Amino acid sequence: ESSTEIDISAISPGQAIKAVWRKQPVFIRNLTPEEIKAADAVDVSTLRDPETLEKRTTAGKTNWLITMGVCTHLGCVPLGAGEGEVKGEFGGYFCPCHGSVYDTAARIRKGPAPKNLEVPPHEFSSDTVVKIG
Ligand code: FES
Repeated sequence: ESSTEIDISAISPGQAIKAVWRKQPVFIRNLTPEEIKAADAVDVSTLRDPETLEKRTTAGKTNWLITMGVCTHLGCVPLGAGEGEVKGEFGGYFCPCHGSVYDTAARIRKGPAPKNLEVPPHEFSSDTVVKIG
């Protein structure tokens, strides 16, 4: 199937889950207001792959950060979605393979990965369902 619908109603603020799309992991994260603030406080021009949280999310639903769960270095699955408090130094995701660290907008901040975690095409079918693909 080229698209998949996911129920996001049970994902509380601060939580992230793993879903699957095109046989690859997708992270769906409900950012807290503090995590959004942390992402917005970053001077984008200092980033390796400069993107705002706003650009990576849907208008009016900035709290829903949806990215591929595939490290842009060599494709490992970063930690931070479904492993409890493992979020890494910048509050987002941590790739244990070679130490790439992603922030609360899943932007690369440290380590060998060249790009932010990719945002797959997605749209909200309702307040509680997102369609990926
Ligand atoms: Fe993630 Fe190398 S695959 S840091």
